[in-house]
Amino acid sequence: MASVMEKSFEPLVLITPRLIIIPTPTAVSLSSYRALYSSLHANAAFCEMAFGHHFPPRTWSDDETREVIQTRDIQRCWERRDLGDFAVALLPAAFQTDPCKELCIIKGPDCDQMLNQICLEELQWVGYAGVRDATTTSLPPREAADPALPPWQEMIEVRYGVSPQFWGQGLATEAAKAVMQWSVDERGVKRFIAETERENTRSAKVLQKFGFTPSGTDYWKEPTEIEWECTKLRLY
Ligand SMILES: CC(C)(COP(=O)(O)OP(=O)(O)OC[C@H]1O[C@@H](n2cnc3c(N)ncnc32)[C@H](O)[C@@H]1OP(=O)(O)O)[C@@H](O)C(=O)NCCC(=O)NCCS
Repeated sequence: MASVMEKSFEPLVLITPRLIIIPTPTAVSLSSYRALYSSLHANAAFCEMAFGHHFPPRTWSDDETREVIQTRDIQRCWERRDLGDFAVALLPAAFQTDPCKELCIIKGPDCDQMLNQICLEELQWVGYAGVRDATTTSLPPREAADPALPPWQEMIEVRYGVSPQFWGQGLATEAAKAVMQWSVDERGVKRFIAETERENTRSAKVLQKFGFTPSGTDYWKEPTEIEWECTKLRLY
């Protein structure tokens, strides 16, 4: 039987004034993050808002949650394009920078050193934020009559979700902005896209704050959704 080589990922953490943002290849091993992730997907109101009828609420066991994160995000996104979802937690006071920087990208040995000083299991997880190549993840198969798509760096879907108890504090905005800027600076992303359910005005507001405008594209072929694009690459 062929042996499967696990890809290793560069140590990476994003720090914003209020958040610590950790790639899921690291966060998947944390039971506290898996518990938060599964609770969001078991929440009917959250799922309806985020995914419409495509994805009814699910009750996953801890093993199922790990499997979902592993297959849908790590294998399809991180292993393929070296980007994907990040787990988002409140930044412990001891790590708040002074003066407070908008975004710190911490990599390599500095990141190892930082991670050694934090008990990741004890962080207060609030949600997730991610960027992914929509062409290999969420888009339906293309048909012969469909127009050709631009390169994948121009087809980067932004996604985020925050536990309802943390809504209205700007945390989704703070997290998604950091992940988007990181993907531009470190992965050469050139254009972002997104889809929202028509009723999801809360998410539309978040997108508009970044400079997203309705694109009129029909990539996802879903009449209940609005499609968006953003070519602004300096978010701070
Ligand atoms: C969409 C979702 C992430 C938005 O959450 P949210 O808390 O409303 O968004 P933010 O974290 O950016 O908060 C924005 C609000 O917080 C307020 N706020 C408070 N403090 C703030 C701060 N320091 N900075 C920015 N906004 C702040 C703002 O006034 C803003 O409200 P407004 O836009 O009405 O003025 C959340 O509703 C969610 O998780 N929904 C389910 C998943 C989902 O729909 N995902 C998107 C799929 S397309």
